Amino acid sequence: MNNLIEINDLYFSYDKKTNVLKNINLKIEKNKYYGIYGHSGSGKSTLLFLMGKILKPSSGEIIYSFNDNIKKHIGFVFQFFNLINELTILENAKLAQYIREGKENLKEIREFAEILGISRIMNKYPGELSGGEKQRASILRAVVGNIKIVLADEPTGSLDMANKIIVFELFKKLIQYDKTVVVVSHEKELIDFCDKKSYWKMD
Ligand SMILES: Nc1ncnc2c1ncn2[C@@H]1O[C@H](COP(=O)(O)OP(=O)(O)OP(=O)(O)O)[C@@H](O)[C@H]1O
Ligand SMILES: [Mg+2]
Repeated sequence: MNNLIEINDLYFSYDKKTNVLKNINLKIEKNKYYGIYGHSGSGKSTLLFLMGKILKPSSGEIIYSFNDNIKKHIGFVFQFFNLINELTILENAKLAQYIREGKENLKEIREFAEILGISRIMNKYPGELSGGEKQRASILRAVVGNIKIVLADEPTGSLDMANKIIVFELFKKLIQYDKTVVVVSHEKELIDFCDKKSYWKMD
């Protein structure tokens, strides 16, 4: 299979009555940068949760080209950070690598921290950071550990324009690290960064 993930005839309902997602068919190719756009309540987070195996389809199927330990290959950037408050940013990142790969890789952490502009705050705790710094730290935690795909839900919500651009640029760079990226965003700047034919609008 050429596609990293294939979604066929996907339906999803939270309450078994109304379908939040209907007849979704998508092919996610390796090493591409996808953007998902749509109004509030259109099902963007739901679709991302399904792709990340946090939710299960009501019907239809999601086929992954990597079959062993699917979740370990997926880095999820949550709308609300999900950092561990008792650990420093460095420890949060190391823990993610350890869970995914069974080992730490400081070189990988340093490289991504540098791109994200958070090298100086690596020994701080989440509670000591600004909203924008926390957001970038949660992106760092999602992308380390040799993952295949990053699923990012509104990853730029609490960032100013300069930092939004840094984050969109980082996602673009991840392609060179052999990763695939799916970003949900309200920011129309996202369109300028992701691949032209890889931009979906949800109704
Ligand atoms: N846990 C839940 N239980 C029941 N209904 C839910 C749940 N989560 C979301 N919904 C409903 O499913 C629909 C899609 O929600 P979803 O969060 O996927 O939208 P979204 O496109 O991500 O919106 P936003 O842009 O506001 O983040 C909405 O109508 C929402 O009310
Ligand atoms: Mg959402």
